[in-house]
Amino acid sequence: MKKMKTATYEAEKGKVKKVILLYSGGLDTSVMVKWIQEEYGAEVITLTADLGQPGIDLPAAKAKALKLGASKAYIIDAKDEFAEKYIAKAIKANALYQGGYPLSTALGRPLIAKLAVKLAHQEGADAIAHGSTGKGNDQVRFDSSILAIDPDMKILAPVREWNMTRDKELEYAQQHGIEVPEGNKIYSTDENLWGKSSECGILEHPEEAPPDEVFTFVTPPEKAPDKSQTITIGFTMGVPTSLDGKKFPLAQLIQELNTIGAKHGIGILDHMEDRIVGLKSREVYECPAAMTIIAAHKDLEKYVSTIHQNHFKAELDNKWGYFVYAALWYDPVMADMNAYIASMNKAVTGWVKVKLYKGHVQVIGRQSDNALYDLQLASYNEGHTFNQAASPGFIELWSLQMKVINQIKNKKGVTNEALATGKHGQPQTS
Ligand code: ARG
Repeated sequence: MKKMKTATYEAEKGKVKKVILLYSGGLDTSVMVKWIQEEYGAEVITLTADLGQPGIDLPAAKAKALKLGASKAYIIDAKDEFAEKYIAKAIKANALYQGGYPLSTALGRPLIAKLAVKLAHQEGADAIAHGSTGKGNDQVRFDSSILAIDPDMKILAPVREWNMTRDKELEYAQQHGIEVPEGNKIYSTDENLWGKSSECGILEHPEEAPPDEVFTFVTPPEKAPDKSQTITIGFTMGVPTSLDGKKFPLAQLIQELNTIGAKHGIGILDHMEDRIVGLKSREVYECPAAMTIIAAHKDLEKYVSTIHQNHFKAELDNKWGYFVYAALWYDPVMADMNAYIASMNKAVTGWVKVKLYKGHVQVIGRQSDNALYDLQLASYNEGHTFNQAASPGFIELWSLQMKVINQIKNKKGVTNEALATGKHGQPQTS
């Protein structure tokens, strides 16, 4: 029976002639090059975005796509754009979804979607295809980002409709001369400059520790060097611009920090996560540069901002991470938030000294000309300028409401003991 399409944007057989396929070079998307030609009778053009994924051989991916019958195979180097327009915003927002995940995959999707729509227009393609499953966040990010940019674009997600088990897929690959990549394909991974994520296999059992073989990027902390390394990250308006005094474009600085951090076992994260589609999932991440930079940025930002800015920002950061995770990159709420965040980050210029040691990132020093810290005010030594005589007056007013409450309770006969232990409950009505 013909599968009914649920949403109006889903590509239909016979109606799409030319498809841009987001191609990773892996098994799933390689099978798709053939499958789309066979099942949809459409021409396939592949697009592989280079977001700094360390493991990928780009020329080999291109050759493979062409061999499988793609009419053209594009490789687009988007490392700098990814770093400067996407990761930089995440740094300013101290973005960690549910307090842990630095959004490496989530940040890449809206950029890849944008590149795909541009290429589709350039090539006169009528649909974009991607390799995401029907159970994850990435389908939501690809589909909604593509539609936000071009509401008329059709989208094809073969995994959502082809109903192939792993074995069937391998069989299909064999029949079609698609070489199956060597090595363990037990894990489903995604990688870019900002980090690597791994799912599936034993990782689907949250009670089991991730085996060492999962970590192809970061050295497990217990195997990291016994000697710590201290680095200095320089920031200009919230964005890292130098490492140990040497200037770097952001993408390169991140790559440098990934190498250093990976050596010291930094950035491994075992994370129970709430997907937007309702599932809970266990994700394992390796994000050395992200974890180091965010720790440093958070520290410097706090140093130059007021108490009110800091309290407000923490809430905003939390929302920012959630919105990006939840596929809302192109919603205007993001531009609104980014404006505030950029404004606050104008002051975040200076440097942060960070010690890396066996999986730990420890901030051990910071400097900024915009720091609100004042030694003369803060010091307990001779010559401080803070007016301690003014403190009792401040405290009298600061504690005013707590005193009033106490008086009310006393009048109603609540004992001081009950008050102190919080057992007094709600004010009595009779
Ligand atoms: N859970 C992460 C996210 O939704 C990463 C998903 C990446 N996919 C993968 N196959 N590992 O952003």
